[in-house]
Amino acid sequence: MNPNPESTELGPALQSLIQRAEQALARHLPPVEHAPAELHRAMRYAVLGGGKRLRPLLVYAAADVLGERGPSLDAAACAVELIHAYSLVHDDLPAMDDDALRRGRATCHVVFGEAMAILAGDALQALAFELLADERAGHVEAAVRIAMLHVLGRACGAEGMAGGQALDLAAVGQSLSLAELEHMHACKTGALIRASVQLGALAAGTPSDGALKALDDYASAVGLAFQIRDDILDVEGEAAVIGKTVGKDAAAAKPTFPSIIGLDPSRARLVELTDAALIAIAPWGERAALLRELAHYSANRRN
Ligand code: IPE
Ligand code: IPE
Ligand code: MG
Ligand code: MG
Ligand code: MG
Repeated sequence: MNPNPESTELGPALQSLIQRAEQALARHLPPVEHAPAELHRAMRYAVLGGGKRLRPLLVYAAADVLGERGPSLDAAACAVELIHAYSLVHDDLPAMDDDALRRGRATCHVVFGEAMAILAGDALQALAFELLADERAGHVEAAVRIAMLHVLGRACGAEGMAGGQALDLAAVGQSLSLAELEHMHACKTGALIRASVQLGALAAGTPSDGALKALDDYASAVGLAFQIRDDILDVEGEAAVIGKTVGKDAAAAKPTFPSIIGLDPSRARLVELTDAALIAIAPWGERAALLRELAHYSANRRN
């Protein structure tokens, strides 16, 4: 465990899980030696070489609290990161946020063109479901795999990430109520974070309803905190550290936590949400060390 829970760096256990996820991703992405090489290049560019890997870490950490650390987790860890990477490629397109910088590098459409970026996003999304459905991936029973596909499908569809992105675009230039803003964030970012935790729990076996509820309370709080931190970093971060252009939300007239309630109240909400996340997992005590570290990290991260 990380000796300092307030640290903005992850401790060695989570660092090594990042490496595990990245190795699995590199293995499952199509090779550039195979046609269509340019599409494969765009897919690998979008996924490899950067990113905090929070969603795979949540898969591993949720399973860890239930005692599962085996290879059955890798497909789910890859699936959530593939969906996330696809969402970023599309989020950066000129028709959406029109961003040129992501993870400290030119965005996918700047390097490969818009058409290839759209297709890379499409193919990454499809690969996520293919991996999760694959019976060779770590001996997860068919019924559990179907439940996992259902969870991921809901999280990235019209009632989850894609729906949240639609709300985000519709909100440009509008003044949302706090409840509307929280709903938008819960869909566009929270849904996939909740799904990551649920997939980890499902891959770990058959968790009780009580365990699932506690994990979902944790994930809802962490998901909102994560997006509030993203909104704050857009105001006060530095491009060289966050690897993205800063000030984009204000320039695009997007409602965000800082724009609606102000920076200090946004920070206070982060503290409240972190406390709520920690309370939800408190019954597990030390066994929830990884989840606890990720709750602190989501709220305090510098990039
Ligand atoms: C950025 O996500 C978009 C949001 C949902 C806030 P991350 O901050 O997880 O991006 P990477 O994966 O680390 O680049
Ligand atoms: C993006 O939110 C959320 C998704 C990609 C689903 P943002 O538009 O705030 O993310 P950044 O700031 O570009 O990473
Ligand atoms: Mg966006
Ligand atoms: Mg964006
Ligand atoms: Mg943002």
